[in-house]
Amino acid sequence: MPAVGYGTMLYPEPDRAVELIGHALAVGYRHIDTARKYGSEHWVGEAIRGAGVAREHLWVTTKVTEEDARANDFAQSVEVSLETLGLDYVDLLLIHWPQPKVPLEETIGALARAKQQGLTRNIGVSNFTVALLDEAIAKSPEPLFTNQVEYHAYLRQDKLLAACARHGMTMTCYAPLARGSILSDPVLCEIARTHGKTAAQVALRWLVQQPMVAVVPRALQVTEIEENIDLFDFELTGEEMIRIGELRDRNMRVVDPEIRRPAWDEG
Ligand SMILES: NC(=O)c1ccc[n+]([C@@H]2O[C@H](COP(=O)([O-])OP(=O)(O)OC[C@H]3O[C@@H](n4cnc5c(N)ncnc54)[C@H](OP(=O)(O)O)[C@@H]3O)[C@@H](O)[C@H]2O)c1
Repeated sequence: MPAVGYGTMLYPEPDRAVELIGHALAVGYRHIDTARKYGSEHWVGEAIRGAGVAREHLWVTTKVTEEDARANDFAQSVEVSLETLGLDYVDLLLIHWPQPKVPLEETIGALARAKQQGLTRNIGVSNFTVALLDEAIAKSPEPLFTNQVEYHAYLRQDKLLAACARHGMTMTCYAPLARGSILSDPVLCEIARTHGKTAAQVALRWLVQQPMVAVVPRALQVTEIEENIDLFDFELTGEEMIRIGELRDRNMRVVDPEIRRPAWDEG
């Protein structure tokens, strides 16, 4: 999975969505993150068809919402996603949020079946805690590739990182810029000046420089789309990695919907 993906949640100007996703593909993104819940799958499909990038060079992730956690609903959601995207398969299919009202083995079974049917190359989960992740792995007949969770310089996720490492899984970081709220941080700005980069690039570089970590930032300005993938011509020093890591003591979560959140791991 390419370490930097383009997130496609929330387009305040829907008319520009295809153009922006197309721009991301034109400037080198090969990983697009979408979900049934975002309503962005048809724009992703249209942008892919217009981009002229061979399918095998693209990584498309989509997700099934917790409302579709029952096996039949799950299978139907996958079918609709593929039809909306105009693709025969996705590269990664995720359970978007845990659903405590449905036995996990039922949803995991449906997820694994999608892989066995060739509808997705890889499967994984999103917003799973350590306990849920351990349970999902124990119940899944297929390996789980990633847990997509909120992680950025203002949120400690050591327990989940350790759990992903223990299971040989990638952690995919959503809201890697904490929705913009870390971008005026003095430490990030100072380090950015040292490297001739922006605070956003330093925040993203800090994440992808950690083992088995990928990011899916979302940007609506073309310059920011370009900036967010231009992370591989500089390296943070060990001391800079530690300084940024210390900012996590703020423990700030930006995605915490009351109706869906599990009992998050602290620390
Ligand atoms: N699995 C899940 O439950 C889940 C939950 C949330 C998000 N996600 C995924 O993660 C993706 C990203 O998360 P997110 O959109 O919540 O948060 P984010 O990527 O942390 O932040 C997006 C915000 O940062 C700004 N921004 C982006 N790049 C910038 C740059 N280079 N310089 C300055 N500002 C910049 C954007 O500004 P503009 O508005 O001007 O672009 C936007 O306000 C989503 O699109 C979605 O694919 C998944």
